[in-house]
Amino acid sequence: MLRSRYFLTLILSIACIFYFDSTKGCWAQHTLEARVDSILKTLSIEEKIGQLNLRGTSSRSKELSQELIEQVRKGEVGAVLNLTNPQQVMALQEIAMKESRSKIPLMFGRDVIHGYKTMFPIPLALAASWDMELVETTSAIAAHEAYSQGIHWTFAPMLDICRDARWGRIAESPGEDPYLASKLAVAYIRGFQGSSPGKPGSLIACAKHFAAYGAAEGGRDYNTAQVSLPVLHDVYLKPFEAAVEAGAGTFMAGFQDLNGVPCTANRYLIQDILKTKWKYSGFLVSDWNANKELIAHGYAEDEKDAAYKAMSAGLDMEMTSKTYERFLKQLIQEKFLKEEQLNEAVRNIIRTKLKFGLFENPYFKDRNLFPVLSQEHLSQAKDAAIKSAVLLHNQASTLPLSQKTSIALLGPLADAAREQLGTWTFDGNPNDAITPKKAWEQKGIPFQYAAGLPYSRSKDESYFKAAISAAKKSEVIIFVGGEEAILSGEAHSRADIRLPGNQEKLILELAKTKKKIILVLMAGRPLDIQAVLPHVHAVLMMWHPGTMGGPALFDLIYGTSYPSGKLPVTWPKSGAQLPLYYNHTNTGRPASASSFIPLDSIPVGAWQSSLGNTSHYLDLGYAPQFPFGHGLGYTEFSFSQLHLKQSIYQSDDTLRVSLLVKNTGKSMGKETVQLYLQDVTGSVVRPIKELKAFEQITLAPGMEKEVYFAIPIASLGFHDSQLNFRTEPGKFKVMAGNSSATLLTEEFILEP
Ligand code: BGC
Repeated sequence: MLRSRYFLTLILSIACIFYFDSTKGCWAQHTLEARVDSILKTLSIEEKIGQLNLRGTSSRSKELSQELIEQVRKGEVGAVLNLTNPQQVMALQEIAMKESRSKIPLMFGRDVIHGYKTMFPIPLALAASWDMELVETTSAIAAHEAYSQGIHWTFAPMLDICRDARWGRIAESPGEDPYLASKLAVAYIRGFQGSSPGKPGSLIACAKHFAAYGAAEGGRDYNTAQVSLPVLHDVYLKPFEAAVEAGAGTFMAGFQDLNGVPCTANRYLIQDILKTKWKYSGFLVSDWNANKELIAHGYAEDEKDAAYKAMSAGLDMEMTSKTYERFLKQLIQEKFLKEEQLNEAVRNIIRTKLKFGLFENPYFKDRNLFPVLSQEHLSQAKDAAIKSAVLLHNQASTLPLSQKTSIALLGPLADAAREQLGTWTFDGNPNDAITPKKAWEQKGIPFQYAAGLPYSRSKDESYFKAAISAAKKSEVIIFVGGEEAILSGEAHSRADIRLPGNQEKLILELAKTKKKIILVLMAGRPLDIQAVLPHVHAVLMMWHPGTMGGPALFDLIYGTSYPSGKLPVTWPKSGAQLPLYYNHTNTGRPASASSFIPLDSIPVGAWQSSLGNTSHYLDLGYAPQFPFGHGLGYTEFSFSQLHLKQSIYQSDDTLRVSLLVKNTGKSMGKETVQLYLQDVTGSVVRPIKELKAFEQITLAPGMEKEVYFAIPIASLGFHDSQLNFRTEPGKFKVMAGNSSATLLTEEFILEP
């Protein structure tokens, strides 16, 4: 019996090879569905439920538990997470393929978020590169390295739009803009999944966390998200829709509740949008233990109710908790659920396994062909760290430095290998990382070094003396500060986003030496640097730059490379301004420089009135520290001649815009030309500007280039209060420049 089932599967596999649709690079749909059904028919109800189980251990565990082995043997497991020993992976797969009755390959998952062994900059940093080719390359390398160790499936990309730097997971996010995030979604998925599904060396992607997890109230992780439906569709869902179009193999539900319904069991999100509107044919997995957490949310009475609600909403696979395993059969027997609901989930999972070649290639064919930490990977990691760095401030061209300038390399993160890797780096080894200190040593350039503080949160001032003395012996201070890796990421939200510990105090002490200070930040989020900004001469945001952060910084400091990153999030002055984002709507009393009356200039005993104040804080004003899209280089660019091909458009036209960009500085540079639009008057108020296109150009000094953009008018549409998607006639503004604080403006009319 066992043998005949094995042969049946084998024959079906061979038969289906002849139906491989090479034009689409995937199984011809009818063949695929026939195969899914033929496998489904052979499964017992326990085996079907087994496919829905994502089992695993903590990322720290090294052991393969006997319980897991037994469950796999019985066909009660569909996928496994956090198993990173290739021998154990192969052994478990062999049990699934040879000893289980169902003979369905296991899918091995892991959080391969920004690299596997070679760590690239954190996702927020990669977003700052605005370079989709780079993101595709780094994701492809991460996929190759992870595949070589027996991993099929990455829980990435994270596509949660985030407008609040207090949220620890902003580090993993694509930033605040739906257009940029959608481009990133496509680049990540192409990189992870490769040119055709299931190609050796590729991973199955997982678009997470569906949806609006980044809107966690107050930036507190796991917190409720209250988002109006038009904003949900026009902002938070955009990158997920792009992920479906790019062929993301799987989706993961968010932990939080969205407008009162936890995403794990949110029928509107899962059934109505993902599966019905977008016709998604992959599968949706819960987040860690999230089915069970429906009880704590107050959405399910007990585990049985949780299983019922998650399955009814359309959640296919359950991560780690066991509500499906324990209660689905009973719920079907008691007729609360139909077996067809279970079948549908199983189909989605088997279809994904087939589509991504797990049946043909369960044992990671050719995995030895994919090296880890190769020279090529390391040089890409350096390139990524360079392209992600954002030069926020550069008073009187402090940077780049000449190699003749004597420097003091100071700060708690100047030699903190583990910290520069950032969040989600279980598999990255700090011993492989090159810190700034190590990079300077390798180059053989003499420098003074002192940490000044042993770690980022330290308040121990006994280290100050050595740092001040090192500073006094040097012309310029390079202070590498920021946050340790553990201060951002999941469950690491901060209310106060200033430099932690006594870093501010140390920088102010160093400023007394009157030496120039270059502040290099390594952090998982924008930080409040108000207190130190007036005392430093340049600020370079390196984020958590990964394995090659040190060499990248070396090249940037001395101008062998130039910074070109642009902020993918608005940089606030303080956590008290949050949430803060550039694409906000206007109020009836928009903030402006002319109306701003700061707190200290209000006369004591002033008459109780608005005083003409507008929508701003008396003590913080209205502007961010640095706007979305901001980032300097080592040269200057001028923008001129913004030109629209027509001034009147119809809804099926394409808006054609051009502008002239010139490198007016003295060195080579890359500029990200950004185009924003505003629908001036709408049936619901519209954002003051929205990014609709960008292009990166590299120009030598004195060179100029005409940049063209073509934007379909249909993409200017939005969801109105009734959730109809529409493009409304009227006046539009077109704005272009080198950040969201745009330089040039034109207008056009969209006719009814
Ligand atoms: C996170 C997910 C992650 C999962 C598995 C959860 O805590 O929210 O993003 O993929 O764990 O490690």
